[in-house]
Amino acid sequence: MIWFQRKHIRRTLLFASTLAVMVALALVSAGPVYAQDGVPPSALDPKGPNGAAISSLFGVVLAIAVVVFVIVEGMLLFSAWRFRQRPNDTTEPKQVHGNTRFEIAWTIAPAIIVVVLFVLALQTQQTLDAKPASAGDQLTVKVIGHQWWWEYQYPDLNITTATDLVIPVGKVVNLEISSVDVIHSFWIPQLNGKTDAFPNRINRSWIQADAAGVFYGQCAELCGPSHANMRSVVIAKDTAEFDAWVQQQQANPAPTADAAAQGEQLFLVSACIGCHQVNGTAAQGKVGPNLTHVASRTSLAGGMFTNTEGNLKRWLKNPPALKEGVLMPNLNLSDADIEALTAYMMSLK
Ligand code: CUA
Repeated sequence: MIWFQRKHIRRTLLFASTLAVMVALALVSAGPVYAQDGVPPSALDPKGPNGAAISSLFGVVLAIAVVVFVIVEGMLLFSAWRFRQRPNDTTEPKQVHGNTRFEIAWTIAPAIIVVVLFVLALQTQQTLDAKPASAGDQLTVKVIGHQWWWEYQYPDLNITTATDLVIPVGKVVNLEISSVDVIHSFWIPQLNGKTDAFPNRINRSWIQADAAGVFYGQCAELCGPSHANMRSVVIAKDTAEFDAWVQQQQANPAPTADAAAQGEQLFLVSACIGCHQVNGTAAQGKVGPNLTHVASRTSLAGGMFTNTEGNLKRWLKNPPALKEGVLMPNLNLSDADIEALTAYMMSLK
């Protein structure tokens, strides 16, 4: 009888744990796909002149720090070993106070190091402020922080987009950085240091990418509950590809399939247009990201999720459940409406 009971318990435990694992797997596989997973951007792997200047300054500072560390720790270990207590040695060590030569040495040496670091930092600062002498025509982008996503306006090209900052390779891109709400900080570690984004103020910075590539960034100033979810990505394209992107972004999109046309009608009579803009339509909201070419972007929700149909549907179902504090409310859309809106969004290439 006892054996039966134990067997019963074992079976129940086995069944329960298998069920738990299956539910966990189902939850994981049904969850949204996060963008940028496994790609930590490193300032020590620079891809442009500003990133390189900062990285090489770090190298010099690190080298000095290593030398200081080895000398100080070496002297400490040597003293501990050389003046250790021997067996049967009960006499108190000779008591000393102060050593003028040492005092002078360890005051002057750090002072010299600090002056050297100051001069090097000043030089690097000048490198970051000055643009390369070879810089030809340049591109200007207004970088605007919002809780919690970045807006990019290309005033000379008449383009407004979000999260994906597309730039041409080898060209100086002047950034005019500001914010519409709280203080954010724009940071693409491989291309430049951090620049704070203030409301009612423009901070200037510039980036240049040496080769085509994708460079991830992260808001670097605590700006509210979704600060960690405020990401950015710089996509550097060769000139021909960049020009093609510009042409695509400047054109107004037109829905093609029936489902997309349905979605557009729904979009234009719903709350969406209070916050979002789609060029060439009645949707002219300025609070949320401009959605004119949302399907051409790599991510959703300020860089949080990969831009896929599944993620977009999850997002439309209940934004606050996916992104803490997000301004976009749960609109309680029906599954049919979500299908239609997703078809429309995905047609906005
Ligand atoms: Cu924006 Cu932190």
